[in-house]
Amino acid sequence: MDESTALAVLNCRQIVTLAGPARPRVRDEMQDLAIVDNAAMLVRDGLIESIASPAELEIGDDIPVVDAAGGIVLPGFVDAHTHAVFAGTRVDEYERRAKGETYEQIAAAGGGVRSTVEKTRAALEDDLLETGRRYANWFTRCGTTTLEAKSGYGLTTESELKILRVIQQLGHVPTFLGAHDIPNEYRHDPDAYVDLVMNQMLPAVVEHGLAEYCDVFCERNVFTIDQSRAILTRARELGLGLRIHADQLSRNGGAELAGSLRTASADHLEQVDAPGIEALAHASVQPVLLPASVYCLGRDRFPPARQMIEAGLGVVLATDFNPGSSPTPSMPFVLSLACTHMRMTPAEAITAATINAAYSLGRGQEIGSLEPGKRADFVIYDCEDYREIPYFAGVELASSVYIGGNAAYTRPDGSDQTCFQESMATMQSFPVWSMRTRTPFSE
Ligand code: NIG
Ligand code: FE
Repeated sequence: MDESTALAVLNCRQIVTLAGPARPRVRDEMQDLAIVDNAAMLVRDGLIESIASPAELEIGDDIPVVDAAGGIVLPGFVDAHTHAVFAGTRVDEYERRAKGETYEQIAAAGGGVRSTVEKTRAALEDDLLETGRRYANWFTRCGTTTLEAKSGYGLTTESELKILRVIQQLGHVPTFLGAHDIPNEYRHDPDAYVDLVMNQMLPAVVEHGLAEYCDVFCERNVFTIDQSRAILTRARELGLGLRIHADQLSRNGGAELAGSLRTASADHLEQVDAPGIEALAHASVQPVLLPASVYCLGRDRFPPARQMIEAGLGVVLATDFNPGSSPTPSMPFVLSLACTHMRMTPAEAITAATINAAYSLGRGQEIGSLEPGKRADFVIYDCEDYREIPYFAGVELASSVYIGGNAAYTRPDGSDQTCFQESMATMQSFPVWSMRTRTPFSE
């Protein structure tokens, strides 16, 4: 959208605004989506100006109209945990797991993160950018309008900087994850690698302004509690925000470390227990839960979301998109898993995937809800009720996606053949934003 242009979004059966207090939503607040029925939204200069009934909004004749055609409008999803820049795939390991090997066995045999590291080190920056763009488009199609992305498949200063430059070009929220694994050349001396991360990689990343956050994979056989604390403390001294992969495969006290450092988030937490949850609550650390990685690894221990909500934590849901444990960019799929396997309600899951996620990335004032003054990042869904988004598992219900008031994606087809023919007819007489097919509910 050009400067000083406006846009009116009309015919919305529901606008799910998530208007509310300017902080992560907790306990019963996570149920309150602040839905406005039969509403319209006015966007100006890429920001939301107002949301009201169509009669209350002053919409000039010359303002371009987006016809939501009786669908529903939500804020774009904010995906607060991805590893979205890497080379190659791990389809071979996927098949090996299907035949019975575990993720940890494959990693111990030289696969896992280290096999992606080999390919990513060898990749040209331009090629990483091209695949990164392909994946970014997948996120958009799934209704995600902001994502965090971690480095961590380079594990040398030069290749970590290469990945972070790609993340910068893609416009994702950048997190340095040099401590994702111990590379082969340091297996004999992990502390020397920790030293490299602290004294060479981190200063270089900060000098080039390539990261907002630092993350560590704190896990049995990877980085110990002490090593994780040392890296994160150094990162904080250098001005970065902190995140941590904690208590994912084993319970090793990652949650307590997150609490003692007051990190912005503690991610995974499949193995966390009541004292760990208490440590997070005490320090207002936001848990980022990643049920797609549990599902994709064929495991059944999902993180205890209900206990976290009861403890008053500002719970976040994210995809963990990566080539090993979670090759999905789909937040709607994550919401389905959260509702089915973690007993989160659809409203809690949507809160976790939008406004709470935005706060975990320090962007709660700009994105994550549809409120006047916030960026016009919104998605029109081809459904009548927000609960359909997790309920119709695996269906792409997002029909168009807007970022800063600009159309970032419009689904090319209708939901069935009849609708498709209708939409072809419509396309001949209306501009591109009228490609929706449903009869407006007001008729
Ligand atoms: O979050 N746990 C460590 N990192 C990723 C997996 C990365 C990979 O398998 O390539 C995760 O699950
Ligand atoms: Fe991860």
